[in-house]
Order: sequence, then C-alpha cells, then structure tokens
Amino acid sequence: MKVDILLGLQWGDEGKGKIVDYLAPKYENVARFQGGPNAGHTLEFDGIKHVLHQIPSGIFRASTQNIIGNGVVLDLVIFKKELEDLAQFNLDLKANLQIAEKAQLILPTHRLLDAAYEKAKGDRKIGSTLKGIGPTYQDKIARTGLRLGDIKSSNFKEKYDALIAKHCAILDQYNFEYDLAPLNKAFFEAVEYVKQFKIVDSAYVINDMLNADQTVLAEGAQGSLLDIDFGSYPFVTSSNTTAAGVCSGLGVAPARIGEVYGIFKAYCTRVGSGPFPTELFDDTGVRMQTEGNEFGSTTGRARRCGWLDLPALKYAVMINGVTQLFMMKADVLNIFEEIQVCTNYELNDGTVVDRLPFDIEDPIKPVYKTVKGWNRSLSGVESFEDMPQELKDYVKLIENEVGVPVNIVSVGPDRTETIVKNEVTVG
Ligand code: GDP
Ligand code: IMO
Ligand code: MG
Repeated sequence: MKVDILLGLQWGDEGKGKIVDYLAPKYENVARFQGGPNAGHTLEFDGIKHVLHQIPSGIFRASTQNIIGNGVVLDLVIFKKELEDLAQFNLDLKANLQIAEKAQLILPTHRLLDAAYEKAKGDRKIGSTLKGIGPTYQDKIARTGLRLGDIKSSNFKEKYDALIAKHCAILDQYNFEYDLAPLNKAFFEAVEYVKQFKIVDSAYVINDMLNADQTVLAEGAQGSLLDIDFGSYPFVTSSNTTAAGVCSGLGVAPARIGEVYGIFKAYCTRVGSGPFPTELFDDTGVRMQTEGNEFGSTTGRARRCGWLDLPALKYAVMINGVTQLFMMKADVLNIFEEIQVCTNYELNDGTVVDRLPFDIEDPIKPVYKTVKGWNRSLSGVESFEDMPQELKDYVKLIENEVGVPVNIVSVGPDRTETIVKNEVTVG
C-alpha cells in the first residue's frame, strides 16, 4: 500500500482533526509527521468536543494504530497531560499508540527561548504559540538536540543538563527570568511516564505496515502557507508542513505516497502575525469570525478572517500535488448574500498576477470576483445534490480554477456534518 496524506492548504486550522477522525475507519494507521504541540486539532462526535495537540486524530477509533513520527517535536509534559485527559474515554492507549524514538524532545528551556526570542522581536514577532517549536527544530538542525530514544541512555541526565546549560546562557543574554526547578521536575516525571508506551523506530514500523498491505494516513499539522520553505517566511512555523515533510518525517520514499487530500476552509483564517492578502478589517470579517467561532484551539487567540484566496490555494495545491480537495466550514458562509473570491493580486506597480510574489508583505491588492451567496441554513442537507445551487456553483468555481475535484464539503463541526460529493479514494 501507499501512504495517503491529509494536509492543510492555508494557514492552519482548516479542520484537519475533524476529517482525520472522519476518515480513520478507512485507515489501519494514522501518523503525525511534523510539528508538535503548536497544533490543536478539534474532533466532535456524540456530543463530545476534544482538542488533540500531539496525539494523532485516529486515537478515538479503536481499530486504528496511531504513530507519532520522527519529524515531530515532542513535549513530554504536554504528552502526559493529553493522555491523562484521554483516560476518561477508555481507549487502549498503550496498544494503539507508538512513538518514534527519533522524535526530537522539546525541553522546558526551548519554551523559554521561544518566549525570549519573540519578546526581543517586538513588532516583528511571529506570533508563535510559544510551545518551543522553533528553538527545538533549531537544535535539531544544529545537531545539538535530544531525541526520545535518548531517555534510555544511562547518561541522559548529563546530556539534558548540558543542553539546558547552553540554553540558560542564551536566556541570560536576553535577561529572561525563569525558575527552572519546577520545570525540570515536571519534565522528568513525564520522562518516566512515557516509558510505559511503545517507543519504536517508526520508519521500520511504517514500512513494515505498508509491506503488509496496511493503509496509512499521514496527518499534517499547521498549513502549507506556514511551511518553512514555501510559506510566508519569516512568519511561518519551523517544519515542512507540505507533502515533502511526509517522506522525511516518517521515513517513507516518495514513490510510496498515494493520495494527497488537501483541506481548506471556504474562506481564510490566520492566527498569529504575518501577511494575509484577503484579510477583512471590517464588519464582514467580524461576522465571519463570530459565525465560524474563529478562536485558536491551542492558544485561544482570535483568528484573523478573510475571503478565499485562489492564487494561494493553487500554489498550495501545486506544492503538495493535491489529488482531492475537501472544503470545510461551508456553513459559515450561510450568512452572506454575496461572497467574494480573490482570483488575482494587483501588485504595487499595477501589474495583475495570479502567482504569489516573493514578499507578500509588500502591499498587494486582492482582485475579487463577487458571487451570489446561498444565504440560507444548510441544516438538514444530507447530500451534495440537496445543496443550494449557489453553493454548488461556488464549489464548481473552485474546481475549475484549481483543477482538482472537491470530494467532501463539511457543513458543521460534528463528524456527521460531512457531505461526500464524490467517494474518497484511498491509497
Ligand atoms: P485543525 O487544526 O485543522 O484540526 O482545525 P482546528 O480544530 O484548530 O479548527 C477548526 C475548527 O472548526 C474546530 O473548532 C472545528 O470543530 C470546527 N469545524 C470543523 N469543520 C467545521 C465545519 O464544517 N463547520 C463549522 N462550523 N465548524 C467546523
Ligand atoms: P494546526 O495544526 C494555526 C502559527 C502560529 C504562528 C506561527 C509560528 O492546529 O492547524 P510556532 O508556534 O509554530 O512557532 O508558530 O504558526 N501556527 C498555527 N496556526 N494552526 C496551527 O496548527 C498552528 N501552528 C502554528 O500562530 O503564527
Ligand atoms: Mg488547529
């Protein structure tokens, strides 16, 4: 079998958690390949709402194995808390969860460094989730990081202390105040806790699964426009959120990639700083935010809102090789009589383009096409056929512009509020 990928095509929070949970019965295995606790993936079913940060979103499906891959940066303290929160659901976590021994560890000082660096940036701050993501990936690339497998070595404490000492020297330069003792204590409690779980060489595990004809779904975190190479740099996260990240984050060869599901909201949101060409600063944006309940799953921050950006969507589809599109939160646009879609950008010098310029921080003016909204509730709609014509036309417009079919339209946060337009093909 091949690994299918589900990833966000915008700035994150597209609804990945909901759809991975929805698709999980089709998959024997779900694997996270990058990011860490900066992610907040919301799942809703049977009246329960649950937000996952590092645990893959297949965890609520009893027959699905969940793997945290080597490309992930793992905060063990948050991991322990997440698993304790899951205890009430009677899941067999020890059987259904495997963690890569090569996953990099987020140390308490990585979180402090994140805060110190952000503070020093002032107005140019990235709006990081302050979970220590950037500093941990920095140590990985600098070849100074610690990996989960290191906790088994007899001199782990020495290695830990040495890296902490390096971080403290930097924190002192930033005059950053901290009290390390409680943080160290919580860290080592979490180290003991994680030892009861399966700590594996995930590259062998996943390739063995594929060779045994098992299905695997790779669950992306963040979104393509936050990718370290292809996003709105420097206002990005520190990992490859795009399809390429699956090969390096799970240890699978490019030829083993199957379907690439690209997921996007019917409009756009962004949390944190950085350019956002279609951002709305008026009442329309506020209405979108209220209707979509656009507040961060990880930090609770208000998400910035704006119309759908087709040049950015086409770019993300190109970079990822998306084969199927899923459109989320269509119901949020119910309130509008007219909907705008950005088809092009007008640059500073008046040129009109349909490609992302090098620096989208330079003022660019979105060129909009206005379409008629459906302006009615979608509750009770059970098939794509039953959808209002204006919504069908909106989907058609996107398919024509992007050249990839929209196979799912999501009309609410619950598992059941998922309309399948075309059967989703697996692997
Ligand atoms: P993720 O990070 O991509 O998993 O997305 P988040 O969970 O951070 O944010 C998506 C939010 O939208 C969550 O609160 C979901 O419950 C909610 N959601 C998902 N799909 C839909 C939908 O179709 N309609 C509405 N109204 N909410 C949705
Ligand atoms: P999910 O998986 C939305 C944003 C932060 C910040 C930038 C860098 O839930 O879609 P970081 O903490 O990674 O150094 O922050 O990236 N960001 C997200 N925005 N959804 C996420 O994850 C995000 N993870 C990081 O707001 O602008
Ligand atoms: Mg999220």
